[in-house]
Amino acid sequence: MKVIVTKNYTEMSAKAYEVIKQVMQDTEGKAILGLATGSTPIGLYKNMVADYEAGNVSYKNARSVNLDEYVGLPKTHDQSYYYFMHDNLFNHIDIDEDSVNLPDGNTGDPDKACADYTALLATMQQDVQVLGIGSNGHIGFNEPGTPFDSTTHIVKLHEGTRSDNARFFDSLADVPTHAITMGIANIMNAKKILVLASGQGKASAVKAMVQGPVDPACPASVLQNHPDVVVVVDEAAASLLN
Ligand code: F6R
Repeated sequence: MKVIVTKNYTEMSAKAYEVIKQVMQDTEGKAILGLATGSTPIGLYKNMVADYEAGNVSYKNARSVNLDEYVGLPKTHDQSYYYFMHDNLFNHIDIDEDSVNLPDGNTGDPDKACADYTALLATMQQDVQVLGIGSNGHIGFNEPGTPFDSTTHIVKLHEGTRSDNARFFDSLADVPTHAITMGIANIMNAKKILVLASGQGKASAVKAMVQGPVDPACPASVLQNHPDVVVVVDEAAASLLN
């Protein structure tokens, strides 16, 4: 794992964009981008939009796969991850709508949605997968205890994860109880993984990810087994690292 410590969130986001820009260059614009939601990558997405607007990069031949989606929220719901990705990124760059992919959390047959997404991922190996990390070490919605060989599956959200996300909803009761997520095996299949973390609240998860035992108790610790991981963290999130 390569760990880059930045002064603050702004620098973390700029460093993260350097990694994405390099992947875009290496793939001649045809990257398969694995993307994440949550508050952490918003600054990265702002950098992607700004550099696109400056005419330095085009996403018209890029494709994307997202980590996860809530179950039961329509795409139009402003807290669906479909909405989030369009609002923060896709609506502001030239990626083709047909080239963006998220798990379908709003179907009558969630098991089929999982199988379909795993089949799609088998045809779309991510050139880079962006990850945030939960304060309990989750990646995607793979909570502690998730087997490392898991593929796309439905998860019942931990109460801690629901309360972490409650700030985005009117109340805790409005936070969905289930999500559909890429499994850990789908994440580990990416050619390169870019993990971002900011703030003191992530410090113990970052420590466990980078320096703890590789154990399903901290799902992110599995990344120690991946050959190409870049961790970009600000000083607060890095504060417990040796
Ligand atoms: C988002 C995702 C989650 C978040 C994590 C951190 O697609 O899969 O694992 O990356 O919960 O969230 P933030 O960035 O809001 O702290």
